[in-house]
Amino acid sequence: CGIVGYAGDNEALPVVASGLKNLEYRGYDSAGVALLDGDIDVFKSSGEIDDLTLPDNHDASVGVGHTRWSTHGKPTDANAHPHTACSGDIAVVHNGIIDNYEALKAALVEDGHEFLSETDTEVVPHLLEERYDDENLIAAVEDVVNQLDGSFALAVTAVGYDGIVVARKDSPLVVGVSPTRNFVASDVTAFLEHTQDVVFLEDGDVAAVTRDSVDVRNGGEQVTRETRTVDWEADSAGKAGYDHYMLKEIHEQPQALRQTISGRLDVARGTVDLDLDLPENYLKSLEEIQIVACGTSYHAGLYARRLLEEYADVRCSVEVASEYEFTGGRDPWRTLVVAVTQSGETADTLRAMRKADAAGARTLAVTNTVGSTAAREANDVVYIRAGPEIGVAATKTFAAQVTTLSMLTVAIGLERGALAGDRASTLLHNVRGLPGAVQQALDDADRVRETASELADSEAFFFIGRRLGMPVSLEGALKLKEISYVHAEGFAGGELKHGTLALVTEDTPVLATLTDGANPQETLNNVKEVQSRGAPVVGISSIDAAESYLDVGFAVPELGELEPLVANVYLQLFAYHVADTLGRDIDKPRNLAKSVTVE
Ligand code: G6P
Repeated sequence: CGIVGYAGDNEALPVVASGLKNLEYRGYDSAGVALLDGDIDVFKSSGEIDDLTLPDNHDASVGVGHTRWSTHGKPTDANAHPHTACSGDIAVVHNGIIDNYEALKAALVEDGHEFLSETDTEVVPHLLEERYDDENLIAAVEDVVNQLDGSFALAVTAVGYDGIVVARKDSPLVVGVSPTRNFVASDVTAFLEHTQDVVFLEDGDVAAVTRDSVDVRNGGEQVTRETRTVDWEADSAGKAGYDHYMLKEIHEQPQALRQTISGRLDVARGTVDLDLDLPENYLKSLEEIQIVACGTSYHAGLYARRLLEEYADVRCSVEVASEYEFTGGRDPWRTLVVAVTQSGETADTLRAMRKADAAGARTLAVTNTVGSTAAREANDVVYIRAGPEIGVAATKTFAAQVTTLSMLTVAIGLERGALAGDRASTLLHNVRGLPGAVQQALDDADRVRETASELADSEAFFFIGRRLGMPVSLEGALKLKEISYVHAEGFAGGELKHGTLALVTEDTPVLATLTDGANPQETLNNVKEVQSRGAPVVGISSIDAAESYLDVGFAVPELGELEPLVANVYLQLFAYHVADTLGRDIDKPRNLAKSVTVE
């Protein structure tokens, strides 16, 4: 999850170690360092950076370091980076996911390579070992990255080469430059105390970094990349330049979703591969899916319910996990219980899972955390791959959960013979479009900030939407109350007139989701109802008809059933900016915890 590297004229170890500390804020479960001084010495383990057994001094003036957040393989010492080749002469750290690692690994094992970890990363040093001739490391790396599918930021050091070679595709990587020493990192915060002059690498770039040179190549040709000076405060830099983790994580969503999707879709064929190993015919005979979850994950479950029922033709219920014990399962043998939990450690969710298991149902965990209790205890697991989330208010993990559950819906629908290929393709096409569409919403963040700061002093906020807009409204309201401490309520648009309308005044803004997938025309009637009571209306919309009714409108690009998920990004930004205007402690809201491990 975090990469740092150094090639300079003095000891690498203190620079690499402090770089790793600077990246700690990103969250991680293992850490490691490789130092090149004639040979390569590797120090790595699961747990915290402070748990690493590092020497007091080390003569190496070249080194790489890594903080890992598990995506393939549990957080163990062996799975921690750096990874080395059989000879121990090549060390690699990696962020991202190598989609085709299984095939590459099989071929390497056949050729006699011995693997020590369960990671996708480990194929890289072995591939390099086949190719590297103790001289031209950059050519070897160029060759190897051509064999890799997926996303990666790689940093490599090798005996015989007095520096580091890095490569980037769909995962950030930056080089810090100074006259007698150079740095590489996944973000500038790693080395900001040493230099503010940086070169941001672009996709396809491979760069050779030594103590006094940086050569960048792309597609086999030498390229020039501009050196820029960043003027971030060390403190805000801890959050990659954002004022809060929450804002950083909101903005990370396109990248997080790329990881979620990576290697799992074949849009043209309309198929999905989530690496599920279910008993044969299990899904065909399935009668019911019960989703159990808490908080934001519960809302992701509500979103998925509609998709599962409509695309996979299976009855689906969603239960707040703490209420699951009162739910009567029907036929446990034909019921799949899906536990949606970012952390994989929420006590109520684990308890619901255990109850389901005891009753004989099959359990599937949808989680962000490899090696978590939910991942270990469930019969099956699908990872949402959002990367670590530090802000207490969940943002990117919600988007990644809904995205993962959408892919799961297609997988189940196809297996059950309930989903025609073209419908599957359309849904997957929209899944693939998510990162770009979310980016478009993020590009409009300034306008959301203006709107939020104008409305921040309101008495209460109401969120309405139908169908897939309903869970998004619940989530929008939850986000706002969690971090701003202002009363907010979300509900199905149709329920407005059954109660809440009595509270609507000019001091209660209404936020309406008016996109595809959310039956916007009907919700427009609710918009008119509240407007005639003087309430300001903020609409997030993909239909032209809405414009004339809205006090403020935000546009969502065409994305079918996933438009409400993009609308949610506006609601996240809205909540954030209301809370920020009110001066709240956004990353650590009062009384709340990121992971609730008590029932
Ligand atoms: C806590 C967090 C929420 C989260 C919920 C469920 O309440 O503050 O943001 O949605 O737990 O967490 P989980 O890890 O199970 O998704």
